[in-house]
Amino acid sequence: MTRQPLTVAVVGATGLVGRTMIEVLLERNFPIAELRLMASGRSAGRTTSVGRAAYPVIEATPEAFAGVDLALFSAGGSVSEELAPAAVLSGATVIDNSNAWRMDPNVPLVVSQVNPDDAATHAGIIANPNCSTMQLVPILMALRDEVGLERVVVDTYQSVSGTGLDAQAELEAQITAYVAGEPMTASVYPHQVAFNALPEIDVFLDNGYTREEWKVVTESRKILHLPDLRISCTAVRIPVFVSHSEAVHVETHRAITPDRARALFAAVPGVVVRDDPATHDYPLATDATGRDEVFVGRVRQDPSIPDGRGLALWVVSDNLRKGAATNAVEIAELIVDRGWIRPAAERRARPEGASLAASGRKA
Ligand SMILES: NC(=O)c1ccc[n+]([C@@H]2O[C@H](COP(=O)([O-])OP(=O)(O)OC[C@H]3O[C@@H](n4cnc5c(N)ncnc54)[C@H](OP(=O)(O)O)[C@@H]3O)[C@@H](O)[C@H]2O)c1
Repeated sequence: MTRQPLTVAVVGATGLVGRTMIEVLLERNFPIAELRLMASGRSAGRTTSVGRAAYPVIEATPEAFAGVDLALFSAGGSVSEELAPAAVLSGATVIDNSNAWRMDPNVPLVVSQVNPDDAATHAGIIANPNCSTMQLVPILMALRDEVGLERVVVDTYQSVSGTGLDAQAELEAQITAYVAGEPMTASVYPHQVAFNALPEIDVFLDNGYTREEWKVVTESRKILHLPDLRISCTAVRIPVFVSHSEAVHVETHRAITPDRARALFAAVPGVVVRDDPATHDYPLATDATGRDEVFVGRVRQDPSIPDGRGLALWVVSDNLRKGAATNAVEIAELIVDRGWIRPAAERRARPEGASLAASGRKA
């Protein structure tokens, strides 16, 4: 088991997720010998702030990974496609937060409390799921294991921080303009997001779904080991700064009551049940922000499905923490604890990283 302090790189360290990754690594006392923060050439030589501390940033290049044991990537798909194989080749284990490698059959896609054992098969890269998938699958896992899943329909209400720093600034600017009675301009999104709901997240695919919606479909199937799961999604961007909410309708193989479902959810590590309509207690984005848990509530029987096999529920989580940074750090802890990471000096001598890097595979 590798417990000695590691050289850890964060790629995309000036971004919303990258900065949260640094915060979570420090909060959880991850064993760090050196923290190497990387971003684009635009940020090289500058610093990135986390809390009150400022950390120097270097440009992410293939050479910058020399001596890195663990690299957390959060700088977009094209950066991961180009630099993750280079990092692996140089001896690092990569945990990638982008869409680049998630559906590669040779790359494990891991949610820490759902399929941790999948990480054992990694050949250098482990993928971190999309934020809207991340908060859904711990809930679906509990139902899969108890009563089986027949069909899932999920509609998301996603915050602007899911798009990054520019989108947060755009919502702020639109609110400010509205209050000042000035015209609102949109550049990050195709329409005004303030006081609106946009049923378009990521690009449209040929099947009419958006890529965000299709990520929920394909990633959920992979993580839950249910390749034929019947699942559909509508993903909507709303004017909330942080935390995504989801309305989830589940048809199960066997009957289940809301009470039993609440008990199952409460038993999943990292899941909190908030469900007391009498006191208006249910999951809220404002409460979930800054927390690492997935919150579930409004659990009720769906009468449109016969024989007590239908449930409706509401799931909320902080997209920057459990939806991105926290799960990435949990994967890092998991592979360290289980001895599934070796320091860079040892990895360089092994052929597996080199073969992944040399294949140039892209998702
Ligand atoms: N936000 C979320 O909730 C969320 C959740 C799950 C996954 N993700 C994924 O995480 C990634 C980052 O998201 P974010 O919200 O943190 O975005 P962001 O706030 O816009 O930050 C983007 C980061 O990527 C860096 N970057 C851009 N081009 C680069 C390049 N050529 N080389 C190296 N670094 C480069 C930026 O550095 P500069 O400052 O130098 O430009 C910045 O650090 C995306 O892949 C996104 O899909 C985000």
